[in-house]
Amino acid sequence: MIDQEMKKAVLENFEKAFGKRDGVKAYFAPGRVNLIGEHTDYNGGHVFPCALTIGTYGAAAKRDDNKLRFYSVNQNRVGVIESSLDDLKPSDKAGWTNYPKGVIWAFAKRGMNLDKGFDMVIYGNIPNGSGLSSSASLEVLTGFILRDLYGFDTSNQDLALIGQYSENNFNGCNCGIMDQFAVAMGKENNAIFLDTADLSYEYAPIKLEGAKIIITNTNKKHKLTDSQYNARRSMCEAALAILQKTTDIKGLGDLSIEEFEKIKGQLTDPDMQKKAKHAVYENQRTIEAVKALKDGDLEHFGKLMRQSHESLRDDYDVTGIELDTLAEEAWKIPGVIGSRMTGGGFGGCTVSIVKDEAIENFKKTVGENYRKKIGYDATFYTVEIGGGPEVL
Ligand code: GLA
Repeated sequence: MIDQEMKKAVLENFEKAFGKRDGVKAYFAPGRVNLIGEHTDYNGGHVFPCALTIGTYGAAAKRDDNKLRFYSVNQNRVGVIESSLDDLKPSDKAGWTNYPKGVIWAFAKRGMNLDKGFDMVIYGNIPNGSGLSSSASLEVLTGFILRDLYGFDTSNQDLALIGQYSENNFNGCNCGIMDQFAVAMGKENNAIFLDTADLSYEYAPIKLEGAKIIITNTNKKHKLTDSQYNARRSMCEAALAILQKTTDIKGLGDLSIEEFEKIKGQLTDPDMQKKAKHAVYENQRTIEAVKALKDGDLEHFGKLMRQSHESLRDDYDVTGIELDTLAEEAWKIPGVIGSRMTGGGFGGCTVSIVKDEAIENFKKTVGENYRKKIGYDATFYTVEIGGGPEVL
């Protein structure tokens, strides 16, 4: 659902920043929320995210020289950031433009070189640093714009892979494929059941009769590169290397719970064993959750959301007091079907499925108890599942 005000504003800001130009177009790429399957995507496991109707709006036009000029309405105080096609290296000075620059760099790695530069304005309505993938949204938006402006022949799935490649190799976060995939492949009213081992996927309609998806922002900022994200990933890789000495697996996601229980003793470091346990159990939980949804058993889906949070809290250790407070307070409220942290963790948001008649009480009670314990407010958003990137 395109927000016409946002579209108008991004185009107006383009004219303000770069002057009137022929051929300027507006674009949109969504944010995402993951319903279940957390920290499984770099372990060859399953995830179950969906695109949101909030996201990043962009306006762009080609130039006649090699310059690249970027302007963010959200970060208007930093003004226009200028660069060029001859300067595609990450730098602190480039700030947020390291994301679009990384995508241009990654296109070039695939042999898709830009003959000229371009001007681009972005305006997002995903709260920054909320764990709803503002960076993946910006990466896919940039890729989508490049494809449109320069006529490259590349699929949406490729845009996801290019976005991830640029984030891994240009921006230094070893993220998995979930976020970029959810953004690039989003489908209205559907979540995506993705097997990250081979990128096979299936859309699953989300029909929540009498309930809504509510995202609650801890308002604690997180930045994945600063966090323990890369450390968790390395630990899973180390666990995999140990288990591969005796088993023929490509990722922790290849193990059933029974298989893992049989061989887990090989992981003698108790912390490593806990991290691997999460990866294995969470993957199986995700498969079970999608089955429950297909069977119309939303109650069971909700229980698995809770187990997912508990595992991320107790075994994977990526929650923290803010996310735990939101989830634990939510579980106490009648009419809350399920609630868990979503995304990388350490801050960001929870996702909850709440019955319509319980929403008011949910927001009031969780909100008050969060403020009492944490000292500042959480923010609540009722969200809808949107489609992938588009030209507006
Ligand atoms: C971040 C990463 C994803 C995924 C999640 C955790 O959002 O970008 O690839 O690993 O964390 O599930």
